Amino acid sequence: MVNLILFGPPGSGKGTQAALLVEKYKLVHISTGDLFRFEMGNDTPLGQQAKAYIAKGELVPDEITIGMLRNKVHKHPDAEGFIFDGFPRTIPQAEALEQLMAEEGTDIHALLALQVDDAEIIGRIRLRGETSGRSDDNDEKIIQHRIDIYKNETTPVFDFFAREGKSQRIDGVGTVADIFERLSQKIDAITNKQLANGG
Ligand code: C5P
Ligand code: MG
Repeated sequence: MVNLILFGPPGSGKGTQAALLVEKYKLVHISTGDLFRFEMGNDTPLGQQAKAYIAKGELVPDEITIGMLRNKVHKHPDAEGFIFDGFPRTIPQAEALEQLMAEEGTDIHALLALQVDDAEIIGRIRLRGETSGRSDDNDEKIIQHRIDIYKNETTPVFDFFAREGKSQRIDGVGTVADIFERLSQKIDAITNKQLANGG
């Protein structure tokens, strides 16, 4: 099994790359942002709870997000591995994810952090906003707030996994194909190491 966290600020290309990586490595992609949007689209109780936070660009409380993530992981008992996208976003979420992986008899193997500067991500989010229909992509203040929250609450997650030697930085600027190639090289190195260690 190989379980990866695809990390990076909003608009850094996590969703785009995850869609390509699941094809290549036969992993299950879990995007907590997409899950929330699905729930909101269906106006479920969970969607209604999340809506107010997401509309403001704030984080949904940890217990709600962690519960949703656990349910989703449990729906894939035969997965060969997971790509977590947009989760964990806080230290309690990182701790909960490690615990969940341990319960499943596995672990997080790497956190791959896409490096993209603020000017570039603001440009990308604005462009995405033209077609995504996401209100949080179409308001300058909310976009900035999401970036600030990423810096204050989410970047410590990089350090959390770095302490275990799992965090790696990847240049997130270039063509989609170039960035995919960089990520693939990292993932191949991780899976080769696992094979060398007897799986
Ligand atoms: O991951 P994505 O950027 O699609 O998330 C969109 C929004 O969903 C975030 O700005 C935040 O409001 C909410 N979210 C969250 N906690 C997560 C993932 C997403 O609160 N772990
Ligand atoms: Mg995304």
